[in-house]
Amino acid sequence: MEVLIQPDVDRAALLVARIIAAEIRASPKTVLGLATGATMERVYRQLVRMHREEKLDFSRCTTFNLDEYVGLAHDDPNSYHAYMRLHLFSQVNLNPSRTHLPDGAARDHLEEGWRYEKLIREAGGIDLQLLGIGQTGHIGFNEPLSALRSRTREKALTPTTIKQNAANFGGEDKVPRRAITMGVGTIMDSRRCVLLATGAGKADIIAKAVEGPITSMITASALQWHPRCTVVVDEEAAAKLQGQDYYRWIFANEPEWEAYR
Ligand code: GLP
Repeated sequence: MEVLIQPDVDRAALLVARIIAAEIRASPKTVLGLATGATMERVYRQLVRMHREEKLDFSRCTTFNLDEYVGLAHDDPNSYHAYMRLHLFSQVNLNPSRTHLPDGAARDHLEEGWRYEKLIREAGGIDLQLLGIGQTGHIGFNEPLSALRSRTREKALTPTTIKQNAANFGGEDKVPRRAITMGVGTIMDSRRCVLLATGAGKADIIAKAVEGPITSMITASALQWHPRCTVVVDEEAAAKLQGQDYYRWIFANEPEWEAYR
């Protein structure tokens, strides 16, 4: 795992977008794993800008989103389907037949998990998985005690997560109680992971996920085991990391990051 500290939220999102853009340019048929949440909106804004101004071409990419709420139809404005249409799909030249999200409205959730896993396998696996982190340390909707080898399946959301997402739904009582999410094992199978966390509210959980023990209580901590995981944080989210000086040194000195400085 490597941690890249950026001066502010815009620079952090820009760096993540540039990492994704470089991957697409190097390999136009790349398979992207996508994430939702407020943090990602800035990343998608940058990708849309790059598509318009720098001719970033998504036409041969395939995408798989991490998760979707159970019970929400594709056209529900609170669904992650709607989020993705709004922030990315309607604004770049992705082929709609190659964009995928779990179907929250599926009748058989177990079957839906298997179907999704099969689609990912048939696409050749995920090349780059974009990730955020929830207050409980979840990636996707892998809440505490999610098996570190879990696959796409239904998960019950914690009260903390329900509270965190309440504003979007106009009240806690309106937030779905369950979601279909890629498992920790599904995420760990991707060839590269890029996690973005910004703001003071993420400082505690980032310190635990990055520098604490690997535990299913904080599923993002499993990424310490991933062979190629980059964590991008702004100064505020980095505030509680013990190794800050080392991480800053890496970004400032490693040749891999020269083009991004
Ligand atoms: C939801 C999503 C996660 C995301 C998290 C953080 O729980 N399922 O994938 O990482 O929100 O969201 P935000 O960026 O709004 O803090």
